[in-house]
Amino acid sequence: MKIGVIGCGYVGMAYIALLANSNKIVGYDNNKEKIEKLKNNSYFISEKNLVNKLKKHKNNIEYRIYNKKTTFKDEEIIFVCVPTNYNEKSNSLNCNILNEVICDITKKNKNALIVIKSTIPVGYTDSITNLTKNENIVFMPEFLREGSSYLDLKNAERVVLGASNNFNDKNLKLIKKLLVKRKTFFKMSTKEAESVKLFANSYLAMRIAFFNELDNFAMANNLKTKNIIDGICADSRIGNYYNNPSFAFGGYCLEKDTMQCSLLCKENILIKNICISNLNRKQIVLNKILKLLKEKKGSTVGIYKLEFKKNSDNTRNSVMIDLFENLIHNNVKVIIYDEKIEKNKYCGCKVEKDFQKFILNSNIIIANRLNKKLKGLNNVFSRDVFGIN
Ligand SMILES: NC(=O)c1ccc[n+]([C@@H]2O[C@H](COP(=O)([O-])OP(=O)(O)OC[C@H]3O[C@@H](n4cnc5c(N)ncnc54)[C@H](O)[C@@H]3O)[C@@H](O)[C@H]2O)c1
Repeated sequence: MKIGVIGCGYVGMAYIALLANSNKIVGYDNNKEKIEKLKNNSYFISEKNLVNKLKKHKNNIEYRIYNKKTTFKDEEIIFVCVPTNYNEKSNSLNCNILNEVICDITKKNKNALIVIKSTIPVGYTDSITNLTKNENIVFMPEFLREGSSYLDLKNAERVVLGASNNFNDKNLKLIKKLLVKRKTFFKMSTKEAESVKLFANSYLAMRIAFFNELDNFAMANNLKTKNIIDGICADSRIGNYYNNPSFAFGGYCLEKDTMQCSLLCKENILIKNICISNLNRKQIVLNKILKLLKEKKGSTVGIYKLEFKKNSDNTRNSVMIDLFENLIHNNVKVIIYDEKIEKNKYCGCKVEKDFQKFILNSNIIIANRLNKKLKGLNNVFSRDVFGIN
């Protein structure tokens, strides 16, 4: 079967790796440089399992630049994995790229099944179906995580399909054959599936915000955060997972999806406050760092890695970037240690390549996630209790 994937980013590349096993895949992207690199087996994602699969099945994968000339002539199914960033002005996820891509596919190949994997507002699938008069559009929310995208997809706990009641049997069989295999499968309306994605990410964001608020309390009262969390999470209704405090949540999706979710129901107040809690947490962490610096009579904060979570290969919406900017704004001297930054400067600040010099020159080192390199140092500030993400 010939399958198209539009948007060779974190989500798109995971689908390419998963499906190339027994299908011919074409990965499309409008970023020429990215396509050239992919053609030369140079990957921007540093995930071993993913890269191994891409290499192993490279004969089944073709990468093409996406432009007006793209025909989509042979594809039976096309996964659309383009960005839907949050637009502060319109107060909504921006679906302009998605609109353009879906209109274009519809014009060129009305028989292809279009599977939206990008995260979208509730009601989007219905509205694009009406606009294009194309009934072959479904939404399948994506739950993978950056850093483990291939395995998350392969071992997905559930597969959700949002489709109209008269979704044809041939396409249902196709989806089941490609993606469902022995997984819990839910078929529901498109609006319900769109809600699943937004409420799922809001729950995850809420859980992080909750344990960070617990940690705010523990810090303010000089209590051991770990003891409190251990005592709480031994209750199986709460569960001993996804409970590790951090400086705040970050990354590409949690904040934007939670903001979108908070708009769904005017009467709801809990979800609206998740992002406010996260902002508040960043301020509390910043104040604590400034206080520690004052106590040490120091002037320099060393930032240990800019990533938003452990072993991430990007810094999209990383809390460390926010802290960096806020420290600079407060006239604090900042130096950075991060093996992933090749340049010697980041936004005018020194990127120290020598770890020993980094330690010597930092009055305080801040680390969102701890690492054995930092073990034994007495000037490290982190809220990482369990050493996991
Ligand atoms: N990253 C995640 O962990 C994750 C998880 C679940 C869902 N999602 C959702 O999936 C979508 C994609 O996320 P991502 O992290 O893969 O994004 P990404 O930024 O990593 O990748 C998007 C890709 O689309 C390409 N692109 C942009 N405009 C294009 C166009 N007009 N035509 C063709 N290609 C174009 C970009 O060059 C990029 O390679 C978003 O809606 C996101 O919310 C992401």
